[in-house]
Amino acid sequence: MAQELYQPPKELVENSNIKAFMNKHGIADLDILLDKAQDLDWYWGEVAKELDWFKPWDKVLDDSGAPFFKWFTGAKFNIVHNCLDRHMNTPVKDKIAFIYESEPGEVERWTYEQLHKEVNMFANGLKKLGVKKGDRVTLFMPMIPQNPIAMLACAKIGAVHSVVFSGFSSGSLRDRILDADSKVLITTDGAYRRGKVVELKKNADAAMAEAPCCQHCVVFKRAGNDVPMTEGRDIWWHDLVDGLSDECEPEPLDSEDMLYMLYTSGTTGKPKGIVHIHGGYAVGTYSTLKFVFDLKPDDVWWCAADIGWVTGHSYIVYAPLMNGATSILYEGAPDFPAPDRWWSIVEREKVTVLYTSPTAIRMFMRHGEELPAKHDLSSLRLLGSVGEPINPEAWRWYRDNIGGGKLQIMDTWWQTETGTFMISPLPITDLKPGSATRPLPGVKADVLTQDGNPAKPGENGLGVLLKPWPAMLRTLYKDPDRYVQTYWSRFPGKYLTGDSVAKDEDGYFWFRGRVDEVLNVAGHRLGTAEVESALVAHKDVAEAAVVGVPHEVKGDVPKAFVTLKVGVEKTDALKDELKKWVATEIGKIAQPDEIEFRDKLPKTRSGKIMRRLLKAEALGQPVGDVSTLDE
Ligand code: WTA
Repeated sequence: MAQELYQPPKELVENSNIKAFMNKHGIADLDILLDKAQDLDWYWGEVAKELDWFKPWDKVLDDSGAPFFKWFTGAKFNIVHNCLDRHMNTPVKDKIAFIYESEPGEVERWTYEQLHKEVNMFANGLKKLGVKKGDRVTLFMPMIPQNPIAMLACAKIGAVHSVVFSGFSSGSLRDRILDADSKVLITTDGAYRRGKVVELKKNADAAMAEAPCCQHCVVFKRAGNDVPMTEGRDIWWHDLVDGLSDECEPEPLDSEDMLYMLYTSGTTGKPKGIVHIHGGYAVGTYSTLKFVFDLKPDDVWWCAADIGWVTGHSYIVYAPLMNGATSILYEGAPDFPAPDRWWSIVEREKVTVLYTSPTAIRMFMRHGEELPAKHDLSSLRLLGSVGEPINPEAWRWYRDNIGGGKLQIMDTWWQTETGTFMISPLPITDLKPGSATRPLPGVKADVLTQDGNPAKPGENGLGVLLKPWPAMLRTLYKDPDRYVQTYWSRFPGKYLTGDSVAKDEDGYFWFRGRVDEVLNVAGHRLGTAEVESALVAHKDVAEAAVVGVPHEVKGDVPKAFVTLKVGVEKTDALKDELKKWVATEIGKIAQPDEIEFRDKLPKTRSGKIMRRLLKAEALGQPVGDVSTLDE
């Protein structure tokens, strides 16, 4: 394990929000805070006080129905009141909430007041369509301001949103509408992607044709492409809100009332509807963003994810707005029209905190350091990473080439299910490249062996969460049994993350990947991510995906699919070199049995490499469901 340690600069530590919280409570250092915050009622109760509650809670945590935990019971609350309404009496009212940049290059600046009014009008529009508290509404929209506006409008009146990533097929959309039994679908005529118009309404029409529960479709005019409108069912957004009031009181909800569902893939083909609620989710997202990314009033925050995934829900929409932050919302592809699009946005808008994925970082690495070097990125003060283990090579490249050789990187480990960051550095944490460091305050995590004993330092095992947390999923929609089965049955009373992870002597967590991406080579556990990390550390390699293929003696052996940097020749000599390289980087055990060069690796639309497809290919098996494949 890496011995490098990156200590935060004194100035970052001293001015950090987490330090201010510690000072307020007379807490001298991080270890004392982590220890004290194991008193969940104290810690979560303290941070919850910073939000606005219509009626305070009787109890912080109610674990009487475990694993169906409840938080802030007895309280009345609405997350949207905390995102928008409460700012109307403060200077945040005139602050920019979203700097929106479209793919073709238009820029819109939305103040909190404008956003508030627009949300109110649309909420009134939804009411006009008959949407009531508890009704489900599906969103199928690109990354435009109307996407968060529609989400917030639903939540404001107590309706439940289900956002379906706009890159999904009509069949996936139909299945999600049907499962949620949604009354209304919100979409756009089209969306821009790499200069072309993607016809969203066409997919929406195909989905609705087989989803009779959906009574109305609201269409926002975005791309201007011709779309058929079905009389009585379809209505333009601008016609719906025409003449409606821009005032709408937030519905006073119970903390545990449902906020949204978000579908994510599990081990079976059927997606799981992860259920999140208003109160605890608000407390968790608000406080983790404030403490981990240290947002200050003049920061410009850019979470470069898509709103169709949990990262966008929590850290583009809800948490930044509750914090009164200014965020970037970018519609298009990162490499359009050129691979320095992001860096031109950072330079022009003086972005201060950037949060992205290792996949994006490796893509930028592949294009070389000349592109970021052409731009002034000196406004940046903190960086973040999420979604997969970040290999130390990419970590260092990110720090050196985007972070000017000095910025700290917050490698946040979490899941759709957790709702918020769980294991992550704070600005006061010493960093080790490739490690998400330690559990955040109020979180208790561990690594267990297959038989449920604590793993030894450095030993790979199963990641578990030992205590509930406020933003945790409440259940799987309409499937409470699967909720218990998937997360709480392997080790009763403990939440199973499904991740393979090791904890080092300092208590730092090193995530290896999903359990199903872990190989057993000659009795040794080996994360495919470890082999990939070694491969991409080679000077000629751009990206690598490793799968396990069965071997009669060794159990599994790794097979690697590799893309090379621009201009590098695909030779057998290089294959041999790479095999030896891995053997020297990790050990002979990790040496790939076979290496295959590819021009491209198959990825999901959220940017994750689909190892499952490569594995099926390597084994000559059918590839199964490919609805999430990028192209
Ligand atoms: C992986 C994304 C290593 C992990 C927020 C988890 C990570 C899955 C990290 C959840 C990280 C996420 N380091 N692995 N910092 N962050 N993961 O639901 O395997 O799309 O279980 O949520 O991504 O993916 P999901």
